[in-house]
Amino acid sequence: MLRINSIKKDKNRLGIISFNGAMHGKTLGALMLSGKTKEKHWIGYHDPNIHHIPFPYGLTCPWNNDKNHLCDAICFQKSIEELKKKVDLKTIAGIIIESYQGWGAMFYPKKYMDELVKWAKSKNILLIFDEIQSGFGRTGKLFAFEHYDVIPDIVCLGKGISSSLPLSAVVANRKLIDVDPSLNSTHSGNPLCCAATLASLEVIIKENLVEESTRKGIIIEKELQKIKKLFPDIVLDIQGKGMVYAIHFGTPKTSELNPEIGDKIIERCMEKGVLMIRTGMGTIKIGPPLTISDDALVEGLNVLSNAINEICD
Ligand SMILES: Cc1ncc(COP(=O)(O)O)c(C=O)c1O
Repeated sequence: MLRINSIKKDKNRLGIISFNGAMHGKTLGALMLSGKTKEKHWIGYHDPNIHHIPFPYGLTCPWNNDKNHLCDAICFQKSIEELKKKVDLKTIAGIIIESYQGWGAMFYPKKYMDELVKWAKSKNILLIFDEIQSGFGRTGKLFAFEHYDVIPDIVCLGKGISSSLPLSAVVANRKLIDVDPSLNSTHSGNPLCCAATLASLEVIIKENLVEESTRKGIIIEKELQKIKKLFPDIVLDIQGKGMVYAIHFGTPKTSELNPEIGDKIIERCMEKGVLMIRTGMGTIKIGPPLTISDDALVEGLNVLSNAINEICD
């Protein structure tokens, strides 16, 4: 949709900027947009109009080696300067942003995002927020882009939109969305999935689940900070907001992530009856249901702490 809109004005305007480490799906086009190189081994063709830039996370920022570095406007400017050496920036139609990077629950620093938005708006580049994972209260806001005070041009929705039956949606201004009436498919507007989605949205509103996500997030943050203090030799970082957090495991001396530790801990949690999200990247993601009780939340986090303790022994 983004490209159909932009090539109407300029047939060379096919470029999309995405981020290293981003996850936008596993099918061909979505995987090309994603920024996890290991997962792309089976793709024969890489769209030359998709360009990846570094994700602004202090520990991996190519522009600064200081451990406490928080990426800001300069990191975005430097990424664009680098891109400009390889790409004609006039060909860029849009930037796709996973509102936080799923594998590590890492959000964009506000100053970095402000600079990105300023740059995109000044060049009529569309902002696409992939809210498939982050939408519908997961981060303590209805949509995670609200943390950045941004008004996106296109928003992709999925997962929590129905919290059950498969449904996804693309939301945009009518001028953008009406560009091609042939954009449909066999299961478009499936009535059963739509009914499940409406019911789910009603529960989110009636049970104040967005506000609950913020409140329960404070409990998660508190428990995870305790874990960080208890295991300083393996916990590199805690990231997240609302009901999505990640513990980053590795060696503090080198700041390198260690996927093996995370996998062992997840297995131990599973044996104890708690299912955590395996990322295979050296992080464990915590994303409980928004409806979880406070007691169950704390109990689950205690199981995690015990599992880490046993693995460290
Ligand atoms: C941010 C994000 N975008 C896209 C997707 C792909 O969604 P689906 O698995 O429904 O194709 C995911 C799935 O995990 C995701 O987290």
